[in-house]
Formats: sequence, C-alpha cells, structure tokens
Amino acid sequence: MILLKGPEEIALIRRAGQIVAEVLAQVGAAARPETTTEELDRMAEELTLKRGARPAFKGYRPGPQAAYPKSLCVAVNDEIVHGIPSGRKLKAGDIVGLDYGVVYQGYYADAARTVAVGTVSDTAERLIAVARQALYAGIEQARVGNRVADISLAVQRAVEHAGFSVVEEFAGHGIGRSLHEEPQVPNYFRSGMANPRLKEGMVLAIEPMVNEGTAALKILRDGWTAVTADGKLSAHFEHSVAITAKGPEILSRLSDA
Ligand code: MF3
Ligand code: CO
Repeated sequence: MILLKGPEEIALIRRAGQIVAEVLAQVGAAARPETTTEELDRMAEELTLKRGARPAFKGYRPGPQAAYPKSLCVAVNDEIVHGIPSGRKLKAGDIVGLDYGVVYQGYYADAARTVAVGTVSDTAERLIAVARQALYAGIEQARVGNRVADISLAVQRAVEHAGFSVVEEFAGHGIGRSLHEEPQVPNYFRSGMANPRLKEGMVLAIEPMVNEGTAALKILRDGWTAVTADGKLSAHFEHSVAITAKGPEILSRLSDA
C-alpha cells in the first residue's frame, strides 16, 4: 500500500530532510585527503543528535544479514552503496558517495551525493555529473498523473545516453513513517514491472546508482558493501521528493532558512 502524506506530515519530512541536507553539506566538505570514513560517520551522528534527530540507518536490518552498524554509508570509488565507515583514509583522486538518513519526530528523510576528493579523473568528474543529472531528470518526472516508470525511464535514459549503466539490484522507495515504504522506484524499466500512478501526497526517495562500466555488482563479505563487479567507478545521488499539486518538491535540499 502506498501511503499518502498530508501537509503536516510533509512538513515533518521537510524538517528531517533539512537536517539530512545540512549533515551532507558538512560531511561532504570534510571529505578531504587523510580524513577517515569513520571520522565522517562520527561527524554525521553528532550533527544529527545536536539537531534533535536520530540517524536512520544505524541498527537497520532489512533482511537476514547483520544490522547496519554505522550512521552514514560511505562508498569510495568502486563501492556503489552501503560502504561501512572504517579507519580507511580518503586520498586525492577518490570519489566518495555519502548516503544519509535521519528520523525526526517519527518521520524519515534520506539523501545522498557523491563528492570528489581533491582532483579526480575526467571520467570520475563526468560520472558524478551524469549521476546528478540523472537524479534531477527523474525528479522532474515526479508529477501528479505520471507513473513511477516515467521517473525510472528518465533516469535510465540520462545514464545510458552518457554511456554509463544503472544498477538494478537497488531502487528508490517511498519514505515517511518508515525509511522504506512502497512504491519501489527502480532506475530502469522493463515491461511487466509494477508501475503505479503518481499521486499528490506521495513522498519518494529517488536514488540513481550509476556505474562507469558494467551494471553488475558484488556484495562484500561484510554483508553490506556493494561494489562494481568490474572494479570500475560508481556514483550515487538521492533526494527525498514530495509530489505536490505544484510539482515536485525536494524535501532534502539545503535551504537558507
Ligand atoms: N539510501 C539507502 C536506502 O535507501 C540507505 C540505506 S542504508 C541502510 O536504501 F543501512 F539503512 F540499509
Ligand atoms: Co534511500
């Protein structure tokens, strides 16, 4: 069942989204050579608690694998998503996916971005730009009367026209009272897939994961970290987006208010 949210609920998700945006901005700026991914995790957690919210991912256990042990997901280079913060030091030339969610007064928001550490290769820069553009192309389709596949196809086209590939094993999702709600929002479409119509009051986390090479992935022995099967780069962007009568509203965007 797809839960529709009223204005008060959307206001709470917006506040959660604002906290996520502030944390990602600060953590992104701190992703410099010699910083460890664990330091970024600690920073995200402290900033969140200071704002009266709680990290959404810590302790999350969607299936039979171990609960996610940290607050932030940090995916370096060939890591796609769900990289677990550790003593690993970032270095110039790395690209770093930062995925973060919080719960604030019972409502969740979730967002991600990929940042460059120092100077990165032209390919890495282009991959990041294409993944960001694919997210915004998807958001543009998050409108009353469209369907989920309009989002999926816009993302897929942006990525494939650039010569990159979309990851199929993970999808975007509804968000609100839970981190993951219906519907799923895949980053590709094939006939036969569920394709609900979009309605006012839906809130969707749209999150393309874009690979430089093959779409295929492997999960590391930690049970979480997804890496590209070919060892090439991957980039990830995500926003929590409300579908309103006036069009898409990005709830996890940094506002100056
Ligand atoms: N943005 C990711 C998602 O929506 C982050 C989940 S990490 C987890 O699935 F630890 F919570 F699983
Ligand atoms: Co998400």
